[in-house]
Amino acid sequence: MGELKRTRIVNALSSEGIGSEITVMGWVRTKRESKGGFSFIEVNDGSCLTNLQVIAGDQLPNYATEVLKIQTGCSVKVTGSLLASPGKGQNVELKAEKIEVLGWADQEAYPLQKKRHSFEFLRTVAHLRPRTNTFGAVARVRNALSMAVHRFFQDRGFLYVHTPIITGSDCEGAGAMFKVTTLDLAKVPLIDGRPDLRSDFFEGPANLTVSGQLEAEVYALALGDVYTFGPTFRAENSNTPRHLAEFWMVEPEMAFCDLDGNVEIAVAFLKSLFSYVLERCQEDMNFFNRFIDPEIIATLEKLRSQEFRRLTYTEAIEILSKATVSFEFPVTWGSDIQAEHERYLCEKVFAGPAVLTDYPRQIKPFYMKVNPDGKTVRAMDVLLPKIGEIIGGSQREDDYDTLLERMKETGIDPAAYWWYLELRKFGTAPHSGFGLGFERLVQFVTGMANIRDVIPFPRTPGNVTF
Ligand code: 4AD
Ligand code: MG
Repeated sequence: MGELKRTRIVNALSSEGIGSEITVMGWVRTKRESKGGFSFIEVNDGSCLTNLQVIAGDQLPNYATEVLKIQTGCSVKVTGSLLASPGKGQNVELKAEKIEVLGWADQEAYPLQKKRHSFEFLRTVAHLRPRTNTFGAVARVRNALSMAVHRFFQDRGFLYVHTPIITGSDCEGAGAMFKVTTLDLAKVPLIDGRPDLRSDFFEGPANLTVSGQLEAEVYALALGDVYTFGPTFRAENSNTPRHLAEFWMVEPEMAFCDLDGNVEIAVAFLKSLFSYVLERCQEDMNFFNRFIDPEIIATLEKLRSQEFRRLTYTEAIEILSKATVSFEFPVTWGSDIQAEHERYLCEKVFAGPAVLTDYPRQIKPFYMKVNPDGKTVRAMDVLLPKIGEIIGGSQREDDYDTLLERMKETGIDPAAYWWYLELRKFGTAPHSGFGLGFERLVQFVTGMANIRDVIPFPRTPGNVTF
């Protein structure tokens, strides 16, 4: 298709090209006929939210045979001259000199009608939903946020490292892993009643990674500041608007950095991401503000300068135990802070973001550094209104003996993590890092209620279509 030279609509709309002849290609959103032998065709090519209005007159040779039959969903190639538009709602319009229909769309069968569809319905047509305003806008904001992630770290000299997707380790120790095997499930060889993985592809247990952190630590303890940004997988049966079985995570890891430094970078990181979309995605953000969450722009603007309240887990439990609302999950020292608690703190107590630190050791993974009190670890969770936890991180245990003790305590087999332990044997150093759930970020920034609508093809329990 090299010869199909085209102007993207986002550029055509800038009104700089008025008077020039251009060719655009895209998909028809709507079409209406006017009395004087004209058709108005709204074309969108995904480069921006706004459609380009095409004026097609009956002097076109295929007006009666084709143009009149164009309907929602058709793909078209339009050549014409770009004119200042006399009509309301657009600066420019394209007066067609030639219209070619590249692909027809049978209206009886085409699932995307002019009316608004529910997000639930659109999930069933994930192959077509990016052609809607909302999903186009989500895709563009998601793209901008990915760039903003790289820019933030690259500007600070962090190296991007690619950590493996298939791994033998379970970073979070939660056991919520997808197994990877090439064995024929109908005839798995057994040894003592359990699968004999010696004949499997990797000759031992393998799974999809739940986090790139452990491998990122290896690189941080050689190169200083690194980050990974890739897909992660969790086989938890959580059917909630904030959980996916496959999601993307941004995980920076910093050598010679303690928990305070970690909090500082996490807060600066979030603020820079919010600024980036506010500056670069104005049209799409205005759309979200108008149709999805009327406070989203104001919220993001406020967060750019707002203080992130910092408090310990123990302080949070004290506040929560005095709350007058009743929670579904109990508030006791030692039990995990649930989404309802996180939201209560951010929305009702602080009216803003918060960073909780120093959680009880029994509810956090083995790799977090144990505090001198012996009861808590140097963990941090960054909480935002509405969404709750968006970042989880910690200072890492850098003492060999304590790490070994924590592995045993949490049921992790030290033999399988010999390499991770060796980092504490040879030139150990204080280091810290965190993980940002990328879809939670996109969700927060766009105001979208369900995480399934901010990733192109969501994977959730019972759903792997597309
Ligand atoms: O708190 P988590 O489990 O932390 C880690 O995985 C650490 N290894 C990160 C690190 O220190 N390098 O996950 C980090 C973030 C959460 O705060 C949340 O935003 C997101 O990942 N997350 C999910 N997002 C969507 N669906 C899920 N099932 C998620 N589980 C976690
Ligand atoms: Mg967490």
